[in-house]
Amino acid sequence: MAAPDPDAPLALLGGLTPRTFLREYWQQRPLLVRGAIPNFANPIEPDDLAGLAGDPDASSRLVFGHPERHDWDVEYGPFEAARFAGLPDRDWTLLVSDVERFWPDGPGFLEQFDFVPRWRRDDLMISYAVPGGSVGPHVDAYDVFLFQAAGHRRWQIQEPPGSPECHDDLPLAILRAFDATETWELGPGDLLYLPPNLPHLGVSLKAECMTWSIGFRAPAILDILTGFLEERANVIGDEARFEDPGRPPADHAAEIPVGDRHELRDALRALLAADDADLDAFLGRFLTRPAGNVELAPDSGESEPRPISTRYRLHPEVRRAWFRGPEGPVLCIAGNDYDAGELDPENLERFCAAETLAATDWQAGIPEIRRILHDGLEQGWLEPDTESR
Ligand code: SIN
Ligand code: CO
Repeated sequence: MAAPDPDAPLALLGGLTPRTFLREYWQQRPLLVRGAIPNFANPIEPDDLAGLAGDPDASSRLVFGHPERHDWDVEYGPFEAARFAGLPDRDWTLLVSDVERFWPDGPGFLEQFDFVPRWRRDDLMISYAVPGGSVGPHVDAYDVFLFQAAGHRRWQIQEPPGSPECHDDLPLAILRAFDATETWELGPGDLLYLPPNLPHLGVSLKAECMTWSIGFRAPAILDILTGFLEERANVIGDEARFEDPGRPPADHAAEIPVGDRHELRDALRALLAADDADLDAFLGRFLTRPAGNVELAPDSGESEPRPISTRYRLHPEVRRAWFRGPEGPVLCIAGNDYDAGELDPENLERFCAAETLAATDWQAGIPEIRRILHDGLEQGWLEPDTESR
């Protein structure tokens, strides 16, 4: 899927081009867009969201409380339908994360945001709030687009941000101090972009307030480093050990001799050595690792060999990406990297968006298609597609 034209004005961005938005707002300052998606017909009703909140595979929570009373509480799903019948008329919010996994049109909706590459995107979270419902004043570590799908919400921000300190006696991360510097009321079709770490508070004004949060992710550099070191540590295992046959006698008993330091320095350098291609392949694997809450069901490995035309379905949350390596494109899927032969960007994008795949679709283009199928079944991000039989 080609990304939107970077120089074509988008209604979604209030008439800005993706290039201008990314240069002037992204990661820097908020942008309010009135009528970002004109004639938006809300496809997910409150009852649909409540149904999803009952699914044990979905991640949902109910947040109770009001910023003026400061009486915050949270319950985690899945929720039985009866739970909603007993709720008060005011001051609660139901939030469901990763909705794109369960809503077949979700990936299509999110394509509108493809001017930022997909690896940076996290999920679509949808909230439903009764009047007064809010999750309190807080900061998010990531960029977010807050789209008002139904009803009205008052959004307030504090710019520049004050202290990020949160109350330590609450089940939610609520800022100790929040002094709004800007207030907007959003109605259906309006959109608010917020950069990371900007204090904000959204309070539902009327019944049926539904807000869609298109959230992004940005890996912590420490996590990237840890991931890299983990990979290297797995390669050496815990058997390799310092050895010193033929050691010369020590000059001073408490000194770490230069010869020992030399040997260990060389060993460490050899373990950490990585050229651009090694680092890119690692980054591709790291950035496509399945999210922590994704449950994969690996194949038992007992099945009969399947015909080459067998069609497989990809787990809806499997992360796929590609990059241009020194020897041609590299495909990264669920923490693995594969030689993608001479596939052109159009076909690489097609592969990364496909819901199902068969060896016969790709054997002419992807030399490692068999390994992809094997790994996918073994690791649980592919399963035979029962619908195509
Ligand atoms: C909400 O939808 O109520 C909360 C979204 C947010 O503030 O991040
Ligand atoms: Co937020």
